[in-house]
Amino acid sequence: MQVVRDVEALKTETSGEGVVGFVPTMGALHEGHLSLIRQAAGLARPVVVSLFVNPTQFGPGEDFARYPRQLDADVEMAAEAGAEVVFAPSVETMYPPGEETPVPPLPEVATRPGLEDAHRPGHFAGVCQVVARLFDLVLPRFAVFGEKDYQQLLVIRAMTVQESDRWPGLEIITGRTIREPDGLAMSSRNAYLDAGQRKQALALSRGLQSAQSAASPGEAETIMLRALETGGLSADYAVVRDAETLLPIESFSRPARGLIAARVGNIRLIDNMGMEV
Ligand code: PAJ
Repeated sequence: MQVVRDVEALKTETSGEGVVGFVPTMGALHEGHLSLIRQAAGLARPVVVSLFVNPTQFGPGEDFARYPRQLDADVEMAAEAGAEVVFAPSVETMYPPGEETPVPPLPEVATRPGLEDAHRPGHFAGVCQVVARLFDLVLPRFAVFGEKDYQQLLVIRAMTVQESDRWPGLEIITGRTIREPDGLAMSSRNAYLDAGQRKQALALSRGLQSAQSAASPGEAETIMLRALETGGLSADYAVVRDAETLLPIESFSRPARGLIAARVGNIRLIDNMGMEV
């Protein structure tokens, strides 16, 4: 396992014969990240895992400063899961001072749905900026993203299609959401929850699960909102949308996705599930 911090060393580690598999993360690795690394290791060698808490995707009042950072533990876990290279750049390596790091044109799914795009203005600009820069440096053949961040996954997919000349042959691979035994989606942010909040947080997965048996998107949304209210959470949104465009739908005639963002105290959690049509 190689831990590299700069672009030269990364190039040395990835410029061989192999087909590069890539798992971008912000670190504080958990079983969800590890499942993506194992998936990449089944497709490609070497597997590169990036650990970078990207400042440009956090809004002013968000948790950039207190986001958990644990490099040594992350390196060990990534290696165990099958990564050959950990890329842990500094902010200056990712965003060289005096150079502009362009934000690619944002696809519609990053601006129209009114979900994360509306509640975290600038977030997807930052995500696309950092992921595009990482793709340029790592030049992966496969990049694995989790369904846990469903809108992000669709945004990256669409960006990759729009910029297909820039990363020829790149395939975006989807990893399913890994959950705790009681259903809570794993997240680095779960570390912020105290025991009471940990119980309240179950309203997201329980609400989504109950909504799956609803007869209509409207009924599903009512079920999810009721679950959040009962748990004492405050909803940013709890909606059922077209699974591809994330735009509103009237009926379950096309693949649909339930998506929730809610706050437990000042901790913001997201989750989503497919709605069985
Ligand atoms: P981060 O939140 O660290 O997530 C890294 C990857 O792990 C993402 O693709 C995310 O969807 C996936 N992931 C998180 N929790 C998961 C779970 N419970 N099951 C399966 N996969 C899970 O997402 C980011 O970082 C950043 O926005 C990034 C893409 C790295 C750009 O900075």
